[in-house]
Amino acid sequence: MTTTAPEPTSVPGLTVTRLNGRLGAVVEGVRLSGELAPETVAAIRETLLAHKVVFFRGQDRLDAASHEAFGRLLGTPVAHPTVPSTDGRYSFPINSDHGGRANQWHSDVTFVPAYPAFSILRAITVPPYGGNTLWANTATAYEHLPAPLKRLAEGLRAVHSNDYDYAALRPDAVPEQLRRFRDVFAKITFRTEHPVVRVHPETGERTLLLGNFVQKIAGLTGQDSRDLVDLFQRHIERPENTVRWQWRAGDVAIWDNRATQHYGVDDSDDHERELARVTIDGDVPVGVDGRTSTLLSPESLPEPVHGIASGASTAATGTPTALPTVTG
Ligand SMILES: [Fe+2]
Repeated sequence: MTTTAPEPTSVPGLTVTRLNGRLGAVVEGVRLSGELAPETVAAIRETLLAHKVVFFRGQDRLDAASHEAFGRLLGTPVAHPTVPSTDGRYSFPINSDHGGRANQWHSDVTFVPAYPAFSILRAITVPPYGGNTLWANTATAYEHLPAPLKRLAEGLRAVHSNDYDYAALRPDAVPEQLRRFRDVFAKITFRTEHPVVRVHPETGERTLLLGNFVQKIAGLTGQDSRDLVDLFQRHIERPENTVRWQWRAGDVAIWDNRATQHYGVDDSDDHERELARVTIDGDVPVGVDGRTSTLLSPESLPEPVHGIASGASTAATGTPTALPTVTG
């Protein structure tokens, strides 16, 4: 039995326009900041839970501080586990300086147990063409599975890690990019076992939890594992299950990272593309059988190696370094 996220209550002045059948909505009538009325915040949260990814145009006035302040209205901002903050802010740069894109389907940071609940992405500089982002609804992907495949997925667990094969995924990467991936993004190897179907803590929906950070299905090796991951991932990526957004500078997208995957399309050649992301703390996933996700390595979760600890966004502690282009 799967529940559906409830329809959000309406707030005067706030307009919600659905984009596609299964996810995505544009919200108009609000200027995002850290000083929104509680009923506006509640309406945004309900809209987000119902539509999985929501878009706001014309938020040019947001900067790193107010972006983060708005994030605090949805929860607690969290630092990336390994990539340093260069300015003491939770705002995490996603740019094209190094020629890469997050062009693999993934949910953010699923290599740790309580991976982010929400990601808030703000477009600063957009290319003249291309550079769109796609999102897929992992709740409707589960919901539309045939019953035997639902049962199969519910019994599986998968190991997620940040130590994925970067070189294989980016055959055009230069040695400097490979070095940055190894020395910064994958400096500590995280491995977490998650249920393949998690029960959403706010909506009760069942969602498929897979994506780019999956190393293997627990208990299986090699071809069987890859075949099963591909089988379910294919359902997530079906075009009917996705929405695509063409960025303008000043746009903000917020997604429920527990009920979506996303993909940054790498098709704007060498044009600059600069976005900033604030992620909001999540909770440890629970499977249909009540089992929670478990951290396999390291033995305990360290404070972020570089950057800022949760709830202490004052000054950067790590050595600012050039950031690698990462996908999560
Ligand atoms: Fe991402």
